[in-house]
Amino acid sequence: MVSAHAPGKVILVGEHAVVYGRPAIAVPVWETVARARVTPNAAGRGCVIHARDLGRTIALAEAGGDEPLAAVARATLAHLGLPTAPDWQIDLTSTIPMASGMGSGAAVCAALVRALFAQAGEVPDPATVSDLVYRAEQIYHGTPSGIDNTVVAYGQPVWFVRGSPPVVFTPARPFTLVIADSGEPGLTKQTVAAVRARRQENPPRYEAWFDEIAALVQAARAAIEQGVPAQLGPLFDHNHALLQQLGVSTARLDRLIAVARRAGAAGAKLSGGGGGGNLIALVDGVSAPAVRAALLAAGAPRVIVTTVAAQPFPVA
Ligand code: PMV
Repeated sequence: MVSAHAPGKVILVGEHAVVYGRPAIAVPVWETVARARVTPNAAGRGCVIHARDLGRTIALAEAGGDEPLAAVARATLAHLGLPTAPDWQIDLTSTIPMASGMGSGAAVCAALVRALFAQAGEVPDPATVSDLVYRAEQIYHGTPSGIDNTVVAYGQPVWFVRGSPPVVFTPARPFTLVIADSGEPGLTKQTVAAVRARRQENPPRYEAWFDEIAALVQAARAAIEQGVPAQLGPLFDHNHALLQQLGVSTARLDRLIAVARRAGAAGAKLSGGGGGGNLIALVDGVSAPAVRAALLAAGAPRVIVTTVAAQPFPVA
């Protein structure tokens, strides 16, 4: 039996502008993980994937081409030069909230890829994991920027520009985020389409906003690499104001973000596609419990506190 895992993720800064070629930063959330376990199956039973949290069992020999987990498993087996459906049982579990912009689909696939490599006695490099997981992201999301598969495959903060190799970088000092679910479902596909439509009506205005976001993303990277994460606070606030201009925030996100700031967060913003979904707030050891409690009291159904630190991909 072998097992492997992969973290959840949040986008720190740069969502939406990243679709238009600007940089974004995403960080892993190791407090939530997806796991894959591979055990030999009885001879002749083929390869069966049990996705317990989804309540689904997928027989690899029978699954259609539009089944993301099967697509990733097939691509990985082909990459390893293995039979199309070896007699293996694959169990997938995850503590990453689903459909919440925390990359649960990508993380489950990354754990699956890493476990199949482990079962074959190999250790994949993160770029290979990322490429294989991207196939599933395309089935889930159509034309994803590729940021989710990258950060869950590398398990490190990632500077991401569409079409360029990702740059993994290291925080000089750890910093802590509160991640809160707004209680409204995130609508990434719709908000990406809505921004596209609005941009077509006024390209110069949207390009200027995207440039402003790119500049603050650059400043955020410098703050993280130079060990002054407190500087992220105002950058989060600035980024959120621009996301409001892009029309992807909601009254509820705005209210919860105000709650986080009042409770002591150094800055806060929506994270991911918007239209609902998550917000993130920059906190420290003192403000973290107060911000967490305030968000829960204000109706956020789920709050996760995560510390982003320099750490290699932990062994499963
Ligand atoms: O909602 P998430 O966390 O999957 O993030 C979407 C980020 C966007 O920039 C809005 C879209 C993308 O493909 O990068």
